[in-house]
Amino acid sequence: MDIQEVERGVYRVGKGEESIFLRFYEGYVRVSSSLSRPSSLYSPIIALPSPKEAKVKNERGSICLTSEDIEAKIGEDLALSFSFQGKKTFSSFPFQRKKEGFSHNGEVYGDEVSFPLRDGDHFYGVGDHAGPLDKRNYEVINWNTDYVYAHVEVVKSLYKSFPFFLSKNLDVFWGLFLDNPSKTLFNFGVDCEKCLFSSKEGGMDFYLFFGDVKTIMKNYTSLTGRPPLPARWTLGYHQSRWSYDSEEKVRSIVKGFIDNDLPLSCIHLDIDYMDSFKVFTIDKKKFPNPEKLFSDLSSLGVHVVAILDPGVKKEEGYDVYEEGMKERHFATENGVPYVGKVWPGESLFPSFNDEGCAKWWGEHVKSFAKRGISGIWCDMNEPTSFTGELPGDVSFAGLPSSLAHNIYGDKMAKATYDALDSLGKRPFLITRAAYVGTCRYSTVWTGDNQSIWDHLRLAIPQEISLGLSGMPLVGTDIGGFCGDTTPELLTRWIGLGLFSPLMRNHCPFYNRPQEPWTFTPKVTDDYRKALRLRYRLLPYLYDLAFGNVTAGLPFMRPLFMEFPREERLSTINDEFMEGESLLVSPVVEAGTEKKLVFFPKGKWYDFFSGKLYEEDSIVEAPLGSIPLFAREGSIIPLAEEGEYDLDKSPDVLILKAFLGQGTLTHYEDEGEGKGYENGEYNLIRFTNLNGKVEGTYLHHGYRDYKKIIVEFEGDRKEISIK
Ligand code: GLC
Repeated sequence: MDIQEVERGVYRVGKGEESIFLRFYEGYVRVSSSLSRPSSLYSPIIALPSPKEAKVKNERGSICLTSEDIEAKIGEDLALSFSFQGKKTFSSFPFQRKKEGFSHNGEVYGDEVSFPLRDGDHFYGVGDHAGPLDKRNYEVINWNTDYVYAHVEVVKSLYKSFPFFLSKNLDVFWGLFLDNPSKTLFNFGVDCEKCLFSSKEGGMDFYLFFGDVKTIMKNYTSLTGRPPLPARWTLGYHQSRWSYDSEEKVRSIVKGFIDNDLPLSCIHLDIDYMDSFKVFTIDKKKFPNPEKLFSDLSSLGVHVVAILDPGVKKEEGYDVYEEGMKERHFATENGVPYVGKVWPGESLFPSFNDEGCAKWWGEHVKSFAKRGISGIWCDMNEPTSFTGELPGDVSFAGLPSSLAHNIYGDKMAKATYDALDSLGKRPFLITRAAYVGTCRYSTVWTGDNQSIWDHLRLAIPQEISLGLSGMPLVGTDIGGFCGDTTPELLTRWIGLGLFSPLMRNHCPFYNRPQEPWTFTPKVTDDYRKALRLRYRLLPYLYDLAFGNVTAGLPFMRPLFMEFPREERLSTINDEFMEGESLLVSPVVEAGTEKKLVFFPKGKWYDFFSGKLYEEDSIVEAPLGSIPLFAREGSIIPLAEEGEYDLDKSPDVLILKAFLGQGTLTHYEDEGEGKGYENGEYNLIRFTNLNGKVEGTYLHHGYRDYKKIIVEFEGDRKEISIK
């Protein structure tokens, strides 16, 4: 077996064709089966630093490469074995080249890497696949799919593709990103013996990340991207329905919120606002003066998000269709524009991966947004056609479907984002299909769930898994999409939804409405309580958004992310940490008034009553209550009660402190626009010693709060910052 440094820091190991290439970086390694990637293979990697030199040692039968904390051993048959800081991490069976490609459920996959499944191995991530948080013994196929039936754990493909997973064995973590947008297979030990991953096309090219779980997230997201800072209003409450289909209806829904004293930051317009489902149109009969409507709503602090599907209606005289045809922006089959079927009937699919097409789409987005629309909802972008999956020979500006499919939603989001971004505000998008890196452009929701308890339960691991896959701004349809939700289910769902970064209630016209006042007064009261808590928590959530920008850590975290040494916390599906200070344990079972809460070691305080917990406990959780606990010593930044207008920054900051010792890094800016990029923000470091809270500016580029009040064990005291 040979080893050769083919370029500075690039090591080829093996014999001729049977070689692999290794590159070492700080905390991660890249392994690939060829020196350079085919240019047709999209990669979300933003920029790679120069690889580091490694020390090479030839041992009997194997080659050993060491670079700082990482040691790689490569056996005769290209079996790989990595250690980080002396601890064994990933080790594989011999590398299987494409010529030995294997067939799986009728599909032939290429290069394959397999590794033993060991006792205590846990696997997390891979996007929002249904099922438990730990994917051990499950298989996932990354192929964006609009799966219209119930999302249950045996479903291998849903709307998004995140070929990234995190492995945990006791306190040893490693992460793996398979940098390949074709169909990829991840088997986490279905046969209980070995795991494997493989891609249909493009060879093997993957990154292994080492270190503690937060370092892995930081490195993975610094390579593949993090969301820009969201506008503050986007963290407020969103109400949606398929569809609020007239000006009158929209106004009456907003009035419903006002009359019931329910905060509302955004209303979503589903497909029926359009004229015959033609993108970039607004039905004049149903919305005679949309500009006036949108500006009236804006003066009430309500933003408007409108849906755009990729399918462009095939209709002579429709400008978007005619331009797209003339400028050849649509996907083709055998050189002829491909016609599928979506809401408008016969429809064509723009090739968003083509720069010209993206610009053209973007111009339409800009004029559309200028009518008073704050954000865009990108849907059906797997892409979905009612005639079935787009045939394999469909080409997107020369890119075959096999390589364009999984990134279609990502490219649609990018084209839309770039256009909105050029308008100077922080863009807001929500997309159903996504790929690694889509977080740079958009939030996501988990698609068409159902109004069933199973899907409320599922929402927790789905949202956490998305966060672990590098997609932190997530939500599920609160109340459930398909099916008639019940008062109890909706109440429990909002108890979870208030912690989702994207908080949106959505359902279709063919099921019962889900605005809270359409149920009983008790539902409205409980819903209001949840919404009020959400708006009080806004400063904390905004801090989490800032923390995500700087460190790549999700809002909703598995318990093991904060407490990696407690093995018993590795598989908890119905509890999570919201940031590092709050533990949330929503009730996700029908007819239950109690909840078993697993408390990590240490002291925990009921957020509302201050009751102390030091071990796993069954807590009272009647309908309408929100089981929420604060970590000892934490400081939770809150808005004042009733502060619903998220378009202006709050004058008063409340710091709710809990007994113990802790710190908080608090971020504040105008909540919109790009001023923060020029230093127009404040960063304050607060310390807490048993309720004595002090603050110092780490950065002082924005106006001061008029008042900062510390709340501790029922007392309120004003403080000022040094
Ligand atoms: C899709 C979306 C859903 C939307 C509907 C109509 O099913 O997932 O959210 O309401 O299309 O646009």
